[in-house]
Amino acid sequence: SAHSDLIARLPKAELHLHIEGSFEPELMMAIAERNRVDIPFKTLEEAKAAYDFSNLQEFLDIYYQGMNVLRTEQDFHDMTWAYLERVKQDNVVHVEMFFDPQAHTERGVPFGVVAEGILAALKRGEAELGITSELIMSFLRHLSEGAGFVLLDESIPWHEHFIGVGLDSSEVGHPPLKFRGLFERCRELGFKLCLHAGEEGPPEYVREALLDIGADRIDHGNRAMEDPALIQVLRDTQTPLTNCPLSNLSLCVLDDLKKSPVKTQLEEGLLVCVNSDDPAYFGGYINQNYEAISEALDLSAGQIIQLARNSFAGSFLPEDAKARYI
Ligand code: HPA
Ligand code: ZN
Repeated sequence: SAHSDLIARLPKAELHLHIEGSFEPELMMAIAERNRVDIPFKTLEEAKAAYDFSNLQEFLDIYYQGMNVLRTEQDFHDMTWAYLERVKQDNVVHVEMFFDPQAHTERGVPFGVVAEGILAALKRGEAELGITSELIMSFLRHLSEGAGFVLLDESIPWHEHFIGVGLDSSEVGHPPLKFRGLFERCRELGFKLCLHAGEEGPPEYVREALLDIGADRIDHGNRAMEDPALIQVLRDTQTPLTNCPLSNLSLCVLDDLKKSPVKTQLEEGLLVCVNSDDPAYFGGYINQNYEAISEALDLSAGQIIQLARNSFAGSFLPEDAKARYI
């Protein structure tokens, strides 16, 4: 596209990435064989054909099934390392990644296996690729608040290794306020709070995340644009919004990227940035997301640069590190 060179060359931070959503079918098939675990497809073509979603839940069912092959520290390391090597090519210099421990502990994989595998790859990524990183532990919102407290407890030995907590999985019917006490506790422990809201759920869920829970970042946030008062709060507080264009398209949050809120959000002075969410499932890593949204909305070079700047401004990097990129 017209801005491919600019997009390729811009340093970027990725702030909305589920590491289990970067698990490519090639690697999944290799690890399935290594661990002697059955998977429902035999070829790349079969896998890609299964990745045809009409809503969030259809994706989540396949996402949780795919990660079932992950059993050892080595598996979690290999998946994380593959992501880092891939986004090095996209000039990602910093990543704040979600992981979904309950999707592993619920099937008997210990928290430590998950965390140590991911952390080993992140450490290597900084040493060998120069990519800095932070980890965000996400709670599955289709589970209970009590289950979230159990996770918070069993993760205590690793608390120094993550910067924040998240809230993901099936949104509708599981509003932020279901987890009020849990996030209050997480805030007291010093964690940043990043909540998925307004992807499929109504503007009211964004309002709860922002005003009742005190979220530091809103993941997706598309449907906030239905509420002018909420737009005003997002502008006044400069709360980062982590938009994911190809995810929106894949999950039918949008039927056309031309309807994406990103350009309006930029024009309204909101702190929006562009991310890949689950690149192995949604057809593209971060630069492909920049390409797709730039093309669909006819973004200017200045707006593309603003999106990359916003990715640093919205990160949890220390101010001096941010300043190098803003
Ligand atoms: N939304 C909610 N939960 C998720 C997503 C998402 O886009 N990706 C992985 N878990
Ligand atoms: Zn997400």
